[in-house]
Amino acid sequence: MRKRKRIMKVGNVPVKSRAQIDGIRESGRINTAVLDYVGERIRAGISTEEIDRWVYQVTTELGAVPAPLGYEGFPKSVCTSRNSVICHGIPDEQEILKEGDIINVDVSTIYKGYFSDASRMFCIGEVSADKRRLVRTARECIQVGLMEVKPYQPIGNMGHAVHMYAQGQGYSVVEEIGGHGVGLQFHEDPFVSYVARRGTGEIMVPGMVFTIEPMINMGSPEFYVDEKNGWTVYTEDGMPSAQWEVTVAVLEDGYEVLTS
Ligand code: MF3
Ligand code: CO
Repeated sequence: MRKRKRIMKVGNVPVKSRAQIDGIRESGRINTAVLDYVGERIRAGISTEEIDRWVYQVTTELGAVPAPLGYEGFPKSVCTSRNSVICHGIPDEQEILKEGDIINVDVSTIYKGYFSDASRMFCIGEVSADKRRLVRTARECIQVGLMEVKPYQPIGNMGHAVHMYAQGQGYSVVEEIGGHGVGLQFHEDPFVSYVARRGTGEIMVPGMVFTIEPMINMGSPEFYVDEKNGWTVYTEDGMPSAQWEVTVAVLEDGYEVLTS
């Protein structure tokens, strides 16, 4: 016998119950603990494979599963995206962090069937002022986006605010890769754009849970995907890219970040 799984949707967008949001928050706490663990240890001289080992070990010790592992064939437990890698970098024993690098560590967790997703940037040793400002701006984009997460408003208001802010700082925003609904699965509707127009997109209904994760490029927004592994996304011009990510729930009276 199987229990019917009831998922409420508005259009194609799943709307979570209070209990489901509680579950995603619990998953998010583990996700945050894993990111904290990485943050305390990441340094010049380690390989990105070492980060993968930390993420696998800490996640499983806490009774959870790393969502990326085996997801659509992804071979590792975490994405590590360094300098000109925009996203989906694959941890590698040969890739050694060095002074001056910036790196995104993107952690996603499954706990009791609930998915959470968040990422942070780390600066390795002394980093140039240019790259530090890029990292800071990408982080500020999260706050700018959150300020537009308001019930019964279109999600394009959020994406537009992020785009305008990043552009105002002299950066570009990747258009074809964006955020997503999350919680009952890794990637759910809606696709979340950070190059959107005000007044467009899905209405943010209380119970919607999605990611804010704009990819901010120092140079052009163009990119290409590594032909050999089919995953790693690089900036076309070789300039650095930065990204932070949170999982956020829309509430009747605003929002709650579920990954902090
Ligand atoms: N964590 C990424 C995101 O923000 C997804 C990575 S897909 C994977 O959506 F397969 F590489 F894990
Ligand atoms: Co995500």
